Amino acid sequence: MSTSLVQGASRGLGLQFCKSLLDKGSIVIATCRNPENASNLQNLRQQNSEKLFIHRLDVTNEEHVAQVASEVQAKFGKLDLLINSAGLLHPSGRGETSLKDVTPKGILDTFSTNTVGPLVMAKHFMPLLQKGSGNIGTQHPDPKNQHKAVLVNMSAKVGSITDNGLGGWYSYRMSKAALNMANKNLSIELGRGKNKVICVVLHPGTVDTDLSRPYHKNVPEGKLFTVEYSVGCLLKIIDSLSYLDTGKYYSWDHKELPF
Ligand SMILES: NC(=O)c1ccc[n+]([C@@H]2O[C@H](COP(=O)([O-])OP(=O)(O)OC[C@H]3O[C@@H](n4cnc5c(N)ncnc54)[C@H](OP(=O)(O)O)[C@@H]3O)[C@@H](O)[C@H]2O)c1
Repeated sequence: MSTSLVQGASRGLGLQFCKSLLDKGSIVIATCRNPENASNLQNLRQQNSEKLFIHRLDVTNEEHVAQVASEVQAKFGKLDLLINSAGLLHPSGRGETSLKDVTPKGILDTFSTNTVGPLVMAKHFMPLLQKGSGNIGTQHPDPKNQHKAVLVNMSAKVGSITDNGLGGWYSYRMSKAALNMANKNLSIELGRGKNKVICVVLHPGTVDTDLSRPYHKNVPEGKLFTVEYSVGCLLKIIDSLSYLDTGKYYSWDHKELPF
């Protein structure tokens, strides 16, 4: 049986990852910063009390990350899939439209959650991922290229430097471009040796969640995905991943995005 951890599971895509992974038969460790306020996650726990475990984790707090890693080590001794889903557009809820909106605090707070948090998660959970069963993704036929686990960092297409034709959203774009670089580094370091971990960055499309809510009226008809649809597409990609995909940046439709 696979053991998955979803970081940022209280709502939005993270909550849907928990639901869909439970449906696929995985044990799910769901982390969020305020479990007592995460009513949808608590309801899911009531229906899946044997398979869903909730832990408090603010991804900007390294002590929380280390504590949950040691609890997962003690209870499960391994991790097969880690999804870093927590993210924010900007502390104000809206991306900067021009330079005059930029503040150092806005940039740093966005980076703390979107970029530094996932890297600190990788630091503390890597020993557990390296002990994974290799039952997530698709194993490469050559034993030298087989993997133990998969690390998914939720990025965004607007983090692509090549694709940036509009500007704006300084904090969010920069935080996701830097997350993409962190993931590339991770893919190199964790691709060495025999306990390989696949590391990818994924773009979910524009999805109907609180994060995108201020912009929903600008989204063309049919282009605002439900969480069910987006997570279904992303899980198909995750199931297909082999070690040859590590370091890549995929969109929900399985197209590779340029960095
Ligand atoms: N929705 C889209 O259209 C879209 C597009 C591209 C990329 N993405 C990416 O997909 C990921 C998920 O986004 P979403 O749409 O599901 O967003 P969302 O519905 O706004 O949910 C954001 C999640 O992040 C959590 N979070 C924020 N700061 C945190 C912290 N310091 N520690 C722990 N958790 C924290 C929130 O927890 P609380 O409930 O405690 O606030 C919430 O669970 C993000 O990385 C986002 O950048 C989304």
